Amino acid sequence: MKNFQKNAELQKRAQKIFPLGVNSNFRYWGEGITPYIQKAKGSHIWDVGGNEYIDYRMAFGPIILGHAYDEVDDTVAAEIRNGLLAAMTTELEVEVGEMLVEMCPAVEMVRFACSGTEATMHAIRVARAYTGREIILKFEGNYHGFHDHTLWSTYAPAEAYGNSRSPIPVPASSGIPKVLGEKIITLPFNDLEGFDRAMRAYGHQIAAVITEPCQGNCGAILPVEGFLELIRTRTREYGSVMILDEVKTGFRIANGGAQAFYNLDPDIATYAKALGNGYPIAALGGKREVMGIIGHGVSQGGTYTNNKPGVAGAYATLKLLRSMPILDTINQRGTRLMAGLKAAFEKKGLPVVFNGYPGMFCFAISEHPIRNQREWANTDREGYLRLMEAAIDQGVMPDYDPREPWFLCYSHSDADIDHTLEVFTDIIQKF
Ligand SMILES: Cc1ncc(COP(=O)(O)O)c(C=O)c1O
Repeated sequence: MKNFQKNAELQKRAQKIFPLGVNSNFRYWGEGITPYIQKAKGSHIWDVGGNEYIDYRMAFGPIILGHAYDEVDDTVAAEIRNGLLAAMTTELEVEVGEMLVEMCPAVEMVRFACSGTEATMHAIRVARAYTGREIILKFEGNYHGFHDHTLWSTYAPAEAYGNSRSPIPVPASSGIPKVLGEKIITLPFNDLEGFDRAMRAYGHQIAAVITEPCQGNCGAILPVEGFLELIRTRTREYGSVMILDEVKTGFRIANGGAQAFYNLDPDIATYAKALGNGYPIAALGGKREVMGIIGHGVSQGGTYTNNKPGVAGAYATLKLLRSMPILDTINQRGTRLMAGLKAAFEKKGLPVVFNGYPGMFCFAISEHPIRNQREWANTDREGYLRLMEAAIDQGVMPDYDPREPWFLCYSHSDADIDHTLEVFTDIIQKF
């Protein structure tokens, strides 16, 4: 049983100055159960109460090598001694840009940003500028960051979305201008027929179709066969830009991300998270013809877009990804973890559906396959929460939120996987 006293005390203190006591709504788990973190190393984290956990949250995905990974941190420490930030470009930036272009097959030109939110915001502007159109098509349950353009139908009760033939875009926050609802079309993920219908009706007005390759913010729901390919085909036909949001999948499911994994050729892809193993760096990259309009009447930039910690963090991370079997190792361990969890559910006779990839997966207590957020909403989310509460109490920390994947990193050891399986086999048995 974890001692949560110190966490609860710090939460009270933090709530005097931060709304909810945190600096992201997603870091708030509830009163008295929100952990405050003291340190992290490798695959483990410690909260302020001294409780230790095997971490499967990996800071919402960026940590691909491990927390406080020495080789990355040493590179960053050495580089920042030569200056943290400049109003001019550095050679290291150029090198990281070249690495990204070499690794990601559809990326011919790239621009850096500081967060996934910024990367998708800029990608959307570029798409609008390139096509001279304004409407963006996105899929229910996909999340592309906090800007107003796509913070629609990320998460709402399924009834609020209306009929799947004519979905209602639902803003995910107060404060988003209603008028932006006229600039967005939302559709269920994996609905090939619905997507075709929407493109026939509105294709010529659509600036961009933006999608995560798998629903990394909704149960890691995988694309059904042909779905991503259909998006590519139709966007070409109608002259819309295809934006593949690889903020979660980039440098995680393959060195070249989902575009390499699925052999896709998007016009623009967006990256962040694993690109820098936790250092603040993001990127939008794609076709020379599309990206090349930046700077020619199209704005993109930012004071911190070439921040040295981010750039040096990416430099060291990409170098390691290219020189060592990082993702293969993660895949092997993740495959074993998924299989062991599945076996525990089978032993108990509880129906379970797994989605995602070994380095980034979700499961749900469900008898039915899950192809979109509407179907996901019918799974036993209360049951999932109960399992996670019990696991966290025993020092294994996936996210409470069933939408958020389990993330693995290179530092997760075989012993971590064994211990996690022991804990979960016991918890599932007692469910
Ligand atoms: C697919 C996707 N796009 C964009 C974002 C936004 O990234 P950031 O939190 O770095 O702004 C996220 C964050 O989780 C994401 O998962």
